[in-house]
Amino acid sequence: MLSNLEQQPADALLALIKLHNDDPRVDKIDLGVGVYRTGQGDTPVFGAIKAAERKLLESQNSKAYLGPEGDMGFVHALMPYIFGKDDPTMGGRIEGMQAPGGTGAVRLAVALAKRAGVERIWMGLPSWPNHAQILGDLGVELKSFVHATKAGLVDMDALRTAIALAEPGDAIMLHGCCHNPTGIDYSPAQWDEIAELVAGAKLLPILDLAYQGLGQGMEEDAYGLRKLLAAVPEALIAYSCDKNFGMYRDRVGAIYVMAPDAEVLNRVLSNGHALARAAWSMPPDHGGAAVRIILEDPELTAMWLDELDTMRTRIRQVRTRLAEHGRAGSIDLVPLGTQNGLFSVLPLSTEQIQRLRSEHGIYLAGSGRINAAGLTLGNIDKFIADLTAVSA
Ligand code: LMR
Repeated sequence: MLSNLEQQPADALLALIKLHNDDPRVDKIDLGVGVYRTGQGDTPVFGAIKAAERKLLESQNSKAYLGPEGDMGFVHALMPYIFGKDDPTMGGRIEGMQAPGGTGAVRLAVALAKRAGVERIWMGLPSWPNHAQILGDLGVELKSFVHATKAGLVDMDALRTAIALAEPGDAIMLHGCCHNPTGIDYSPAQWDEIAELVAGAKLLPILDLAYQGLGQGMEEDAYGLRKLLAAVPEALIAYSCDKNFGMYRDRVGAIYVMAPDAEVLNRVLSNGHALARAAWSMPPDHGGAAVRIILEDPELTAMWLDELDTMRTRIRQVRTRLAEHGRAGSIDLVPLGTQNGLFSVLPLSTEQIQRLRSEHGIYLAGSGRINAAGLTLGNIDKFIADLTAVSA
C-alpha cells in the first residue's frame, strides 16, 4: 500500500532553513522562516523563559498526564492579554484549551468549524501558506479574496465584496495583527467596519493571533480581535506564544472559543477535547508551563514584556531604515516603514528571488516575503545593494 503514495515536495518555507544552513558563504542572510533575530543575528531564549524554566525544573514534581485541554493555568493566564483585563471571559462566554503551537490551534479551529457545519472559509490571499494547506487537508473549501492592493494598502473593497458574497454559516479567517506574509494590517477604523460587516453577514470569525506584541504593542495588537468579538455572538481564536515568548520549537499555543452562552461554550469545548484526543491526545507541556510561570510572577512578567518591547523596537528600527532608503532598484521600500511585524512582501520575480539566493546568499520565501528581523546593522546595506542589483 505504501508505494501508492506520491512524492511530496518539502515545505518550501521550512526547506529554506536547511538551504541557508548549508550555504558556506559567511555573508549569507536568512530572511526566510519567521523567527526573531537580535542585532547580532541570534535567536536567543528569552531571559524570562530561562528563569521560568529554572523554576519549573525545581518545582515540577510530576509529569503525569494533564488531559486534552493541557495546562489550564497557562490558558487562563493569557486571557487578560488577549481579551482585555476588565472582562477576559466576556461574561463567561470565552474559554480555551492549550494546543501544540499556533498551527495546532488553527487546525483545531478549522476542524471545529467543519464539525459545526462550516463548509467554506473566506480568507484574504496571500496568507500564511499553511492556512490553505490545513483547509485542504481538512476538506474545507477556501474562498479567497485579495488582501492588499499593489500600492501596499489593505484592499477593503475586495474584503467588502467577499463578505457580501459570503453566506450565513460560512467562516472568515482573519489575521489579528502582523499580517503574514504582507505586514499590511487593518487600521482601527477598518476593524470597526469589519466587525459590523462580519456580524451583519452572520459569518463565523476565525482569528489567528500569532504575533501579538510584535506590531504596535500588546494592547494595540489586540484591538481588532476585541472589536470583532464585541460585535459577534461567536468566534474561534487561534493563539501562538511561539513568537512573543520565543518558544518556536516548543510549540506553545492555545485555542479559545467564544460562544453565545455557557451551555454552547461547554458543548463546543467538549468537541475540541474530543478532536484533540484523536489528533494529539494532549499538547506538549513544557513551554506552556514556562509561560504560565512567567505570567503568574509580576517580576518575570515585567521582564518578558521588556524583552518583547526590545524585539518590537528593533523590528521597527529595521523597517524605518529600509523605508528611509526609499528605493532599491525597482523596489519601493517606503511602505515597509508602516507595515507591522516580521514580514513584508517585495514584488520580486521568481528569477530575482533565485538570483538573490544563488548570487548573493540572500534567502527569502518564494512569495517574495522577507523576515525583517533577519536584517541587522551589519547586513542591511549589503541587502539593499544586492536588492538593487537584481531589481534594477
Ligand atoms: C512563518 O510563517 O515563517 C512561521 O509562522 C513559521 C511557520 O510555521 O511557517
